[in-house]
Amino acid sequence: DGELCLSRSLVNSSDKIIRKAGSTIFQHSVQGWRINSSLVLEIRKNILRFLDAERDVSVVKSSFKPGDVIHYVLDRRRTLNISHDLHSLLPEVSPMKNRRFKTCAVVGNSGILLDSECGKEIDSHNFVIRCNLAPVVEFAADVGTKSDFITMNPSVVQRAFGGFRNESDREKFVHRLSMLNDSVLWIPAFMVKGGEKHVEWVNALILKNKLKVRTAYPSLRLIHAVRGYWLTNKVPIKRPSTGLLMYTLATRFCDEIHLYGFWPFPKDLNGKAVKYHYYDDLKYRYFSNASPHRMPLEFKTLNVLHNRGALKLTTGKCR
Ligand code: CTP
Repeated sequence: DGELCLSRSLVNSSDKIIRKAGSTIFQHSVQGWRINSSLVLEIRKNILRFLDAERDVSVVKSSFKPGDVIHYVLDRRRTLNISHDLHSLLPEVSPMKNRRFKTCAVVGNSGILLDSECGKEIDSHNFVIRCNLAPVVEFAADVGTKSDFITMNPSVVQRAFGGFRNESDREKFVHRLSMLNDSVLWIPAFMVKGGEKHVEWVNALILKNKLKVRTAYPSLRLIHAVRGYWLTNKVPIKRPSTGLLMYTLATRFCDEIHLYGFWPFPKDLNGKAVKYHYYDDLKYRYFSNASPHRMPLEFKTLNVLHNRGALKLTTGKCR
């Protein structure tokens, strides 16, 4: 009941999938694509059995008081103290409460976006979700600029803002956040130990500069619930990627979900090299077992959902 009907052979081996990358099994026709509204409703209903994105998208102020000690979601032996700054930035109510949209874009970070000319189309959606504070201004023609909801793993501070070592790194960060106005900034602060200092610095900068951005910190149960949903549907992911998490959350709020920038393969269908991220020089890591993600398997799943009209995946040019 409620399964996506992904055949076993389809999801069995991500190795096979990787080897076949670039072959026709990845093709999905954009022409003639039509939304399958009853499937969309069915998926929303099934996901609701595992999580309620309206609630799980963020813990709220009343969930904790300053000084509370919580266990990291993916590292239960380690703990985090809820600081005053963190507590003061928790929303009073879910930032997604009662928000519903006709069409949404979930923008992944693959280099497949370069030269796509998808910027206008992405910005035309009612609600645009982006990942890991990806830069937009320099890439506007291909990725657009609208960002209603943007995620930020704590590691972004190190990767893209020099660990805030210099004043100029901090200024760049504050500038990036000020561009978001009152959009939702979603920070998975409770996943694993290691990023707590970064989260504290981010929180301090937001407070000090009185930034309008609306901070959200995913609930302690979200990642397990999302994983549970996909596992029940025979998609054996170790840890959902940010992009898959965002699609899963978006099913609650959006009638039509359009995905861009999802292409976890080093080559396109014509054999041309594709960067891992459209904006930096990070290399492909998901082929190694060290990677916590199974993006190729996730992609394969999303492709099946595209072909069934549950979502629309764009990996080519937008015209
Ligand atoms: N993505 C993709 N193909 C790529 C790069 C990214 O499909 N070549 C999608 C994935 O769904 C990914 C999302 O875009 O989750 C955002 O990219 P990134 O910021 O790299 O995602 P994370 O999942 O946060 O990766 P990591 O845990 O490695 O930071």
